[in-house]
Amino acid sequence: MKINENTLLEGHGVVLVPYNVNHVPRYHEWMKSPELQQLTASEPLTLDQEYDMQKSWREDDDKCTFIILDKQRWADPSVEEEQCMVGDVNIFLTDPTDPSLAELEIMIAEPSYRGKGIGKEVTRMMMCYGVTKLGVRKFQAKIGLENQVSITMFKKLHFQEVSQCPVFKEVTLELTVDESVRTKLLDDAAHMKERDYRQTCSSRHELLSQ
Ligand SMILES: CC(C)(COP(=O)(O)OP(=O)(O)OC[C@H]1O[C@@H](n2cnc3c(N)ncnc32)[C@H](O)[C@@H]1OP(=O)(O)O)[C@@H](O)C(=O)NCCC(=O)NCCS
Repeated sequence: MKINENTLLEGHGVVLVPYNVNHVPRYHEWMKSPELQQLTASEPLTLDQEYDMQKSWREDDDKCTFIILDKQRWADPSVEEEQCMVGDVNIFLTDPTDPSLAELEIMIAEPSYRGKGIGKEVTRMMMCYGVTKLGVRKFQAKIGLENQVSITMFKKLHFQEVSQCPVFKEVTLELTVDESVRTKLLDDAAHMKERDYRQTCSSRHELLSQ
């Protein structure tokens, strides 16, 4: 999606930036992990296929992706952005007849960053972005039956199980964004700041050259 190509979202512990070409090599390294492939139900891709995927995530109107950065590391301009990468978060508009329905995916790829509240914070930030900028009214999460951490996280965020698919060994959880959910989401993400991504990158580089 082009809408977020110059958007940076700043939270408490994370910064979300658009998925760019320079992020692909690290992303590709992550996805070689059999554990991550299994947890995210992903097939391994070649580096060229990963670049094609990045392009499609950037250009297709039904996909919105942010890379998750460690805010503390990123605050140091001498640390390359790629070295601050922690994971990614996606919204997919899966039903061409209903653009208000979004599938949500999140991956904290770096194991040392899991279990510290980042998944919850990023999911809330992405939901707030989806509701306010993309007009999402219902979120879905499709999760492997064995991925208890992810299932627990989405249930904590008030998603409810609507179905299980024994063939794909996955469960579908949903959250409808009514007025009270919307109000709560906006409250929870009230600290989130939206910035101009390119300008922020330039300011980081300027700080470095001073
Ligand atoms: C699933 C995932 C996104 C959760 O993110 P996270 O940053 O690790 O989770 P958080 O620290 O925000 O915790 C969220 C909730 O998950 C649950 N949780 C987190 N770690 C847990 C653990 N080790 N065991 C059981 N539950 C756990 C807790 O209920 C927690 O809420 P609480 O702290 O209020 O009790 C992350 O672990 C991940 O990306 N894992 C690998 C890839 C993956 O599974 N992606 C999801 C595919 S659908």
